Amino acid sequence: MAKNNDDLFKKIIGHAKEYGFVFQSSELYDGLSAVYDYGPNGVELKNNIKEYWWKSMVQYHENIVGLDSAIFMHPSVWKASGHVDAFNDPLIDNKDSKKRYRADVLIEDHVEKIRGKIEKEIKKAKKRFGDDFDEEQFVNTNPRVQKYNEQIDTIIKRMVKDLEEEDFEDLKKLIEELEIACPVSGSKNWTEVRQFNLMFDTKLGSLSEGSNKIYLRPETAQGIFVNYLNVQKTGRMKIPFGIAQIGKAFRNEIVARQFIFRMREFEQMEMQFFVKPGTEMEWFDYWKNQRIKWHKALGIGDDYYRLHEHDKLAHYANAAYDIEFNFPMGFKELEGIHSRTDFDLSAHQELSGRKVQYYDPESQESYVPYVVETSIGLDRMFLSVLTFAYREEKLEDGSERTVLRIPPSLAPIKAAVFPLTKKDGLPEKAREIMDELKLDFNCQYEEKDAIGKRYRRHDAIGTPYCITVDHQTLEDNTVTIRERDSMEQERVKTEELEPIIRKKLKVQL
Ligand code: GAP
Repeated sequence: MAKNNDDLFKKIIGHAKEYGFVFQSSELYDGLSAVYDYGPNGVELKNNIKEYWWKSMVQYHENIVGLDSAIFMHPSVWKASGHVDAFNDPLIDNKDSKKRYRADVLIEDHVEKIRGKIEKEIKKAKKRFGDDFDEEQFVNTNPRVQKYNEQIDTIIKRMVKDLEEEDFEDLKKLIEELEIACPVSGSKNWTEVRQFNLMFDTKLGSLSEGSNKIYLRPETAQGIFVNYLNVQKTGRMKIPFGIAQIGKAFRNEIVARQFIFRMREFEQMEMQFFVKPGTEMEWFDYWKNQRIKWHKALGIGDDYYRLHEHDKLAHYANAAYDIEFNFPMGFKELEGIHSRTDFDLSAHQELSGRKVQYYDPESQESYVPYVVETSIGLDRMFLSVLTFAYREEKLEDGSERTVLRIPPSLAPIKAAVFPLTKKDGLPEKAREIMDELKLDFNCQYEEKDAIGKRYRRHDAIGTPYCITVDHQTLEDNTVTIRERDSMEQERVKTEELEPIIRKKLKVQL
């Protein structure tokens, strides 16, 4: 489902603010660009995503353990990891709009447009040939599609070569030859391309003590690498094993226009899986499949995801795939799976002068393990859930509702409890039910406004169940339970509420 839709994106951002999910940071002072705060519903959704990830990694896999390393690290860590020298973006400015862009992103957006043309050809042909249409054959034989594919191939190859060889003159030439215009000014008046390091730095200690430049970590992974032996030894871990971590990361992003998609302060959920050299491709495939399965288990719909093999590898990787999600601005990276070889551990071994080898008791040999990494941005995952969930629906009676179809296991509030009226002992009974349920689930009690209005409020924040206490409840201890998506209501015994909600929250991995 293509949702290339600016309006939709604006609505989602507005909704996220109105219902306490995401606020612009320092809004009182007109905000801080690409930095966001999470409100009461946002923090619940975020915590539920973290829990879903953590359980699937650390609880479900017996050979994965957790870690919480510090944001500040010794500056040599970033020298060894290559971030000081190679964590750069190629920048280009438009002289008329004064807007700054990543040169590779401008080119990739241009390629996306060509891909759009191929999609159009396929759609047209599908219509023409109906049931007999063979997409694969069409893509392989249609001269126009072939021409577009050749164009894409040539552009990508040249871009990758330029980036690898840091040939920024040719990168600019490519932008000019492709006649890429600034999306703001429409002009093709570009500056030279130059490199920009994305790490934030600060100083450790007061000036009088003599200060050292240190960095705010741009990825959580290095905290795992430098603790690899501590964890392996203290946990008596045997290869293959993994270390998982959730934490903040910081990047001085240049292109930071897309809400919480690209932030300067964000959170990552990363797992490094340490394996015997030579087995890394097997494990790379395993984790690629495992991670796609994890996403799809939420029931968001398979067509929201696609795998994309990297054209240009990060400085530490020998193979990489992205899991892309169909965001309102099109398919974009949600998660990265990298085969990082022994790049990081060997670099730390060399610069620190300390051995970080693993002694394999079975083969009786020592080696530096290879690493397969899975890395997902928590905030991006949050945006993917919101993107899928946000719906404006026309109901049978002609009214409208805005509903967040958040997968129930991730919903901020699992059940809302309403007394039908504020009298006749109904609030007391509703409170009793609320007190019972809140021991197990995050619930909300509400007695203000008509029931219909209360339903709408909870639709808008994605609460899977609304429970109403009425006069019959006082007689037979039954309540109505209304399901968010179908809006169907059922009368059930109060003791059935807990198992009904629990069943709904189960995710089958
Ligand atoms: N340790 C590997 C690593 O950091 P990455 O592809 O640069 O790889 C991993 O980042 C994930 O972190 C991305 O797939 C994305 O979900 C998230 N991410 C990266 N930069 C981000 C940003 N500026 N804002 C929000 N999320 C970001």
